[in-house]
Amino acid sequence: MPFYQRLGDVPRKRHVQFRDNGTLLTEEVMGLEGFSGNESILYHLTSPCRVMKLGDFEPIEREEWIPDAHAHRHFTTWDVEPAGDPITGRRLLMWNNDVEISLVRPTEAMDFFFRNGEGDEVYFVHEGGGTLETTFGDLAYTQGDYVVIPRGTTYRFVPDSLPERHLLFETPGLIEIPKRYRNHYGQLMEHAPYYHRDIHPPTELRTIREQGEFLVKVRVRDGYQDYVVDYHPFDVVGWDGYLYPWTFNIRDFEPITGRIHMPPPSHQTFQGPNFVICSFCPRKLDFDPMAIPIPYHHSNLQSEEMIYYVDGNFSSRKGIEVGSITLHPSGLPHGPQPGLAEKSIGTTETHELAVMCDTFHPLKLTKLAKELDDGKYAYSWYEAAQQPASPDENPAGVTSHF
Ligand SMILES: [Fe+2]
Repeated sequence: MPFYQRLGDVPRKRHVQFRDNGTLLTEEVMGLEGFSGNESILYHLTSPCRVMKLGDFEPIEREEWIPDAHAHRHFTTWDVEPAGDPITGRRLLMWNNDVEISLVRPTEAMDFFFRNGEGDEVYFVHEGGGTLETTFGDLAYTQGDYVVIPRGTTYRFVPDSLPERHLLFETPGLIEIPKRYRNHYGQLMEHAPYYHRDIHPPTELRTIREQGEFLVKVRVRDGYQDYVVDYHPFDVVGWDGYLYPWTFNIRDFEPITGRIHMPPPSHQTFQGPNFVICSFCPRKLDFDPMAIPIPYHHSNLQSEEMIYYVDGNFSSRKGIEVGSITLHPSGLPHGPQPGLAEKSIGTTETHELAVMCDTFHPLKLTKLAKELDDGKYAYSWYEAAQQPASPDENPAGVTSHF
């Protein structure tokens, strides 16, 4: 979606004859908002509708956990048992009507193709790397990548090794580059924390000419519908347009720093309907002599904050480790633990790497969240007040937005 792309062969004009060895190709317009939104046009060897067999429909079951108390929570995800493939291995942790957030630790390769027919997806690749094979061509992915996959994209992960570790966001809306980063024509502006050169579309289109039986699993109507088609789904000879999967690496996010504390919107990376995804990256901290480099307390009266800790030294945040997720739900104040504001004065840089999702409507939790909940985090401010941080703890490790 970020800018016009073209890969492979396309005819001189849209909607005209285009042949491969004499055979008329099948033109597919894949677009948003009817015929008014962004679209791409693909040219297939065969019709993408050639379903030879309708398979099973499996509804998505969400096992909700309703905690006894409304409280700040800390989930430790590092030791979640790896299982399944990148699709069947999705383990939903929290969700609302705008976004679903899942842990994925696949141990198996996909022996089928997948398409999300009702939502956009962003995989954050914490561990792993390989190729995302898609109808738009091959897209390399690596550790630290956000892999943005618009609805309607048929794909298959081909990892270099297993297991991998992903954090997945799915939304019935669109994953977009924040509007305030783009000019009237869609180009990223000078103040944006990343540029088009940081955005990587598919680079190689391999047209696969293969007849057979191919399973395509499609997420539709809140479930997974299986289809068997008689031709390889990656039979595209060329495409162009604005709709395609792409990657952006979190380490290409250029942090915005200031004389005094920069608020969370300065870390925004993507926008969705009623939620944002932000990247907290290593950077210099506030340089005013009177600055307090870590954040103020805040009451998120209309939003929920989940933060996934990717890398860095979080030792000053008791109990937080790589793979931790904190959830600060709406209606409650939160902020640095006692003593840390004082201790942070004079700190000049942070080495944190974290992904945050703020939602504007409450998140529900699953039974997996119950399993991973440490049950203690809500008391951590109180306990820290009884046992202040020791002098050797480094406040640079704290994330700049609890
Ligand atoms: Fe916060």
